[in-house]
Amino acid sequence: MEEFKIENNQEPTSIELRPGLEGVPVTQSSICDIDGIKGDLKYRGYSIAELAQKSSFLETTFLLIWGNLPTASQLREFENQIQMHRRLSFRVRDMMKCFPESGHPMDALQSSAASLGLFYSRRAIDDPKYIYDAVVRLIAKIPTMVAAFQLIRKGQDPIQPRDDLPYSANFLYMLTEKEPDPLAARVFDRCLILHAEHSLNASTFSARVTASTLTDPYAVIASAVGTLAGPLHGGANEDVIKMLQEVQTPDLAGKYLDKAIKSKQKIMGFGHREYKVKDPRASLLQSFAEELFARFGKDEMYDVAKALEAEASPRLGPKGIYPNVDFYSGLVYRKLGIPRDLFTPIFAISRVAGWLAHWREQLSANRIFRPTQIYKGEKDRNWEPLEDR
Ligand code: ACO
Repeated sequence: MEEFKIENNQEPTSIELRPGLEGVPVTQSSICDIDGIKGDLKYRGYSIAELAQKSSFLETTFLLIWGNLPTASQLREFENQIQMHRRLSFRVRDMMKCFPESGHPMDALQSSAASLGLFYSRRAIDDPKYIYDAVVRLIAKIPTMVAAFQLIRKGQDPIQPRDDLPYSANFLYMLTEKEPDPLAARVFDRCLILHAEHSLNASTFSARVTASTLTDPYAVIASAVGTLAGPLHGGANEDVIKMLQEVQTPDLAGKYLDKAIKSKQKIMGFGHREYKVKDPRASLLQSFAEELFARFGKDEMYDVAKALEAEASPRLGPKGIYPNVDFYSGLVYRKLGIPRDLFTPIFAISRVAGWLAHWREQLSANRIFRPTQIYKGEKDRNWEPLEDR
């Protein structure tokens, strides 16, 4: 840890540099509580295992954003509003048709989400109706954007949402053009619940920093989507599948790990800043994968994943490195027929609930984020004319 003294017009202060802000509280929050030693995760005081078993994603979204589980009429109203706002303006669809089909769907999502600020440009962030409408629009339209880009890049026109289908079933329908099996839709909805919130991770911090400038919620969500895309964050779920393909068979897992660890390569889907045990979401996702395999047939990569987890335990466990949320989610999505580069956009569909909860919380006691730095660069240089350099 580096220490230095800063001098300004106040008393000299000692400042400790904490790279990555590890362990530095930057806000107070009542949204999500993580016990990284016990492997426990709660949203607004409710265990995620119970929410995933008993709630729907939209009910969980309401809980995260407004602090309490909705009453029956609040939930009905919220679901109706979301259903009414699922469609995209033809202008957004036409804009998306101009995106390069080879581009990553996360980039398409970031651009489309940001574009909503052009369509809904009133910035009344102290008006509860504006906040409710923005929440509804973002929760409703983000899945439609993800599904639309998938069809557009295949050269097809996006299909319209179906009003008779609930949130998750409708998304899978818009994506695959088939009405999903009820078990597939329920498992998908439970995956969204598990990914909906996780305190001050990189993308949520990004959302809160953007929110603290009092900009519009579409910019808040677009900046969070861009942050989630990185391979050290949400993008890891795609790399896990690539890694399992590289390992090839369960008996090669130990050899793969030894080589990777020796060359200081990170094992994708392992490790977490908060958890020093297996991420509780990884255990639940593993059980969802098994539910799907029992019904629709096994994925041969599952045995590779289990072997990798078992072999990693003696090698990485002593350092507190265990599977995180990204380790088993890709196997669930693969079984649902979802292409690999949509895993992170699906993470975003879910996490928008947490980002919006943090947007509201940030606005309720806002102070613009403006950390400091330790300047290490040159001082007092003489400017040289071009011909003398
Ligand atoms: N594989 C091998 N070693 C690891 C791993 C891993 N996945 N993760 C951490 N380590 C080791 C590091 O090499 C380091 O070892 P050292 O002290 O001997 O140098 C030590 O553990 C600490 O690692 P850091 O990278 O400093 O830990 P940090 O808390 O900064 O990183 C992170 C957390 C980024 C998640 C890291 O574990 C990682 O890169 N994992 C792989 C990518 C991944 O799965 N990301 C998804 C995270 S979940 C999410 O964002 C949704």
